[in-house]
Amino acid sequence: MCADPDVMRYMPKTMTREESSQQVRGFISHWEARGFGLWAVEEKASGAFIGRIGLMVHDDWPEGEHKTEVGWMLDRPYWGRGLATEGALASVGYGFEELGLKRIISITLPENAASRRVMEKAGLTYRGRTRWRGNGVVWYAAERREWGAGGSC
Ligand SMILES: CC(C)(COP(=O)(O)OP(=O)(O)OC[C@H]1O[C@@H](n2cnc3c(N)ncnc32)[C@H](O)[C@@H]1OP(=O)(O)O)[C@@H](O)C(=O)NCCC(=O)NCCS
Repeated sequence: MCADPDVMRYMPKTMTREESSQQVRGFISHWEARGFGLWAVEEKASGAFIGRIGLMVHDDWPEGEHKTEVGWMLDRPYWGRGLATEGALASVGYGFEELGLKRIISITLPENAASRRVMEKAGLTYRGRTRWRGNGVVWYAAERREWGAGGSC
């Protein structure tokens, strides 16, 4: 997945197996430090591993005190079936209902239209542009006090 240029189009670059392993070690450390993190995503029908979706804290996020992001990445054959939205809604619900977070953010490059659409479909709203880790990014957020109020979830 991380070696596929389509999947990695809006990431800094494609990754080698070793770079991917190192990244997964970072995800595991996040779980150990915080008790939550990115989940592996499996297709229900086949049990196949198809990507990752979940919550990550970015201590270096510059826009306010709420630094927990919902994020997603799926392998190319599984795009366009609503799976990222399903996982995003589950992650945001978990963050508010189980972890008690007040705000959950999501960050992407402005040109990543599919990701921005997932943010909207998961109930996040546009908050603005900023610079983060050397890139101009857009960010969205959802508030716990508004979660589930009048929406489809
Ligand atoms: C972003 C990603 C997770 C979306 O996964 P997905 O399962 O296809 O998402 P969904 O099917 O739930 O929803 C995608 C939405 O984006 C829309 N979309 C897809 N490509 C689009 C494009 N180029 N322009 C505008 N909208 C687009 C779809 O039409 C759909 O919206 P709709 O339901 O209103 O039609 C997937 O494309 C991916 O893994 N991309 C590579 C990794 C990545 O960029 N991750 C995000 C990093 S911030």
